[in-house]
Amino acid sequence: MLKKTVLLLALVAQVLMLENGLMRTPPMGWLAWERFRCNIDCDQDPKNCISEQLFMEMADRLAQDGWRDLGYVYLNIDDCWIGGRDAKGRLMPDAKRFPHGIAFLADYAHSLGLKLGIYEDLGRLTCMGYPGTTLDKVELDAETFAEWKVDMLKLDGCYSTAKERAEGYPKMAAALNATGRPIAFSCSWPAYEGGLPPKVNYTLITEICNLWRNYDDIQDSWKSVTSILDWFVKHQDILQPVAGPGHWNDPDMLLIGNFGLSFEESRAQMALWTVLAAPLFMSTDLRTISLQNIDILQNPLMIKIHQDPLGIQGRRIFKSKSQIEVFKKPLSNEASALVFLNRRTDMPYRFHSSLLELKFPRSGVYEGQNVFTGDIISGLKGDDNFTVIINPSGVVMWYLIPIKSLGPMHLSQLLLGDVTPSYPKYVCRTGFHALPEQGPSWKLTLEQFPVASGPPPPQFCRYC
Ligand SMILES: *[C@@H]1O[C@H](CO)[C@@H](O)[C@H](O)[C@H]1NC(C)=O
Ligand SMILES: *[C@@H]1O[C@H](CO)[C@@H](O)[C@H](O)[C@H]1NC(C)=O
Ligand SMILES: *[C@@H]1O[C@H](CO)[C@@H](O)[C@H](O)[C@H]1NC(C)=O
Repeated sequence: MLKKTVLLLALVAQVLMLENGLMRTPPMGWLAWERFRCNIDCDQDPKNCISEQLFMEMADRLAQDGWRDLGYVYLNIDDCWIGGRDAKGRLMPDAKRFPHGIAFLADYAHSLGLKLGIYEDLGRLTCMGYPGTTLDKVELDAETFAEWKVDMLKLDGCYSTAKERAEGYPKMAAALNATGRPIAFSCSWPAYEGGLPPKVNYTLITEICNLWRNYDDIQDSWKSVTSILDWFVKHQDILQPVAGPGHWNDPDMLLIGNFGLSFEESRAQMALWTVLAAPLFMSTDLRTISLQNIDILQNPLMIKIHQDPLGIQGRRIFKSKSQIEVFKKPLSNEASALVFLNRRTDMPYRFHSSLLELKFPRSGVYEGQNVFTGDIISGLKGDDNFTVIINPSGVVMWYLIPIKSLGPMHLSQLLLGDVTPSYPKYVCRTGFHALPEQGPSWKLTLEQFPVASGPPPPQFCRYC
């Protein structure tokens, strides 16, 4: 009898494997929650309320302002879209705010080369009190989402018990699979169990979810960013190994473009989320975002690092008494990304170190680029002493590659070769024009390299 049970369990575990082939690199896109929350007051605030119009306007921006071409393809609805259930128990969107329905919105997203994500909650109610997906509704709701041609589901965990979650999340994974439509599955399950073993079985989570929230919701402040970061670092021995192609830890949305982060802090969140191989879901108003914030979010070398095919989550590898922390993410071609984070609040700090001290081999010689400034790092040897100047609450980020892995390739081709071709497709929004880059930023460095047989020089949108 016991033997039989074990066999059956093994079989069940196999059947539950998600294997939908999605998200081989961490997903990128836009998610409504952090910026737009549960604003349903379309009478008073028609431009910012959770409505079909808001998502269509963000879809337009994603498609027209270069986001989609850089990989920001998910357009994700969060809570407060549900109107109720119909006579057959099927979910319906709020009729006033989503008059054309979710299938219409999915078609619209698809017509622009985007993917549509939706939100539900495994429980009696969603976190904001809308009808949830109780265990008896899991299959019906999965079928409804598939019928609407939704591409991703974020399943929250409010108003449920641990027992219901243990049954419901695997059940939803199986139900999504059974629809035959590849639907990426974002599970909030671990966050509701404290995010750690033994209450969280990450082996199981990686098998049934493409991404999962481990910890608290992000709020619009640097304090919130660092509290999440510190928790991820504290538990990196547990969390780092469970991330990989198809399955990612999710420290929650990017705040860049909102109100709580300074310029340095915005760069820091971008760099840190990138080395952590975190999903990059922006949650900001793309209709009014500044060029400075666009530059942070659209940095092609940053995105190349984020989308590295190995999909290895980075770790904090060093912490100095002077409150400097160093993070490292291993990349393909033996390259790596380093982030130097300054936790001080006094003045730009001159941090002295060497690659040797950061556990790189003594014999290596490295080329690379400062990801934000574009400065080229050349001939850096393992035991060379270097100084990086890091602003308070800021970062310096390096892309490094050992010279021996460069081969006949030019450094600039390696750095940006597979990103640049998307630029001629750049369509600028009203008031902006595509111009050859002239500004003093990382882009300038490109022009210092003759890209002989490569793609045409990149074009960028500039305000005119
Ligand atoms: C469902 O799971 C099977 C087995 O893991 C997999 O081969 C298939 O691609 C999955 N289908 C979808 C739509 O996710
Ligand atoms: C965790 O889940 C995996 C996969 O379903 C299973 O094989 C394993 O026994 C579970 N571990 C524990 C400690 O329950
Ligand atoms: C780097 O500094 C250390 C002492 O901090 C010194 O021992 C070493 O020789 C220096 N390396 C080089 C290449 O100058």
